[in-house]
Amino acid sequence: MMVVRTNSNYLRKSHMPVHESNAHQPRVIVISGGTDGMGRALTLARAERGDRIIALGSNPAKGRNLETEADRIGAGDRVQFLRVDLSSVESTRRAIREIAARHQAIDALCLFANRQSPKHTMTGEGLERTFALYYLSRYLLSHELSPLLRRSTAPVIVNIAGVGITKGAIRWDDLQLERKYSMITAQLQAGRANDLLGVHYASQADNPVRYVLYHPGFTKSGDLRPLPVAARLFIRAAAKFAARPVEQSIAPLHGFIDNPPSAPLTAIDRDTSLPLTLKTLDPTDAERLAEATKTLLDTRLPKPTTE
Ligand SMILES: NC(=O)c1ccc[n+]([C@@H]2O[C@H](COP(=O)([O-])OP(=O)(O)OC[C@H]3O[C@@H](n4cnc5c(N)ncnc54)[C@H](OP(=O)(O)O)[C@@H]3O)[C@@H](O)[C@H]2O)c1
Repeated sequence: MMVVRTNSNYLRKSHMPVHESNAHQPRVIVISGGTDGMGRALTLARAERGDRIIALGSNPAKGRNLETEADRIGAGDRVQFLRVDLSSVESTRRAIREIAARHQAIDALCLFANRQSPKHTMTGEGLERTFALYYLSRYLLSHELSPLLRRSTAPVIVNIAGVGITKGAIRWDDLQLERKYSMITAQLQAGRANDLLGVHYASQADNPVRYVLYHPGFTKSGDLRPLPVAARLFIRAAAKFAARPVEQSIAPLHGFIDNPPSAPLTAIDRDTSLPLTLKTLDPTDAERLAEATKTLLDTRLPKPTTE
């Protein structure tokens, strides 16, 4: 073990012990939401450093644009766009199978994909869209890519959401928000569910995969097209003054990928380490959500037995 001092305040402040640096080893990285915003910026930055990236997104035009940009910076052979609808369990599992067919091991899984749903929308699989996309795809990718992650010498999952925010709650008796819906309620529920996903994942026995919950703060990114015009204008205006540049928000991710923390779970809000005693990181709630998610998948969307 060693102590790494970098520009990242979280490491500087806490002198957090990390695995031996493997900064110069090319890494294999899966990035969900790698076609836009922070995920796209991380895809290109890591490919430029020599890593191989599998970038997941649903929009083929954005995928082509990403590959063109990767070519332009001389990293075209290291970026693979994989088209997938992450709001669909079936499509997410198909992507996981494709990744497993092409890669022996994965070093890092970075989870960015999200989109606002102003109206209550059920997917074809009968799930509320934000729950499916922002939370359930991250549950599936985290757990079902674990066998590949375990083959890495320093595996890490970074879940980019809103850890540290204490607003919002899991609606235990209405996970699909059928009784009362708002876009904010859905985003906050899925955000808190991601916090609990990290807690439960990190609590597994004999698990070498480190889990980092990371809140990037208000950032100059985000596909606002699903939002009403007034909301778009307001957010764009606010972003001009208050949002952080994408490069600043993703800067700590390089440290998480190159030198995963030694602790099973780490929670960071921008550059501040958060205590794992936060009520939003309650282990009992984490266990309860993991059970509810497993039951939901097993009863309604079981994994095909041929796998
Ligand atoms: N921006 C902020 O101020 C801020 C603040 C706090 C937290 N965050 C969190 O940080 C993360 C990244 O935010 P961002 O601003 O970089 O987002 P973004 O620019 O809107 O990018 C979202 C990504 O998700 C993908 N995506 C959306 N729906 C998908 C689907 N059905 N299937 C597959 N991929 C899908 C998009 O790809 P396609 O378009 O190709 O589908 C895109 O690559 C999010 O989880 C967000 O909640 C952001």
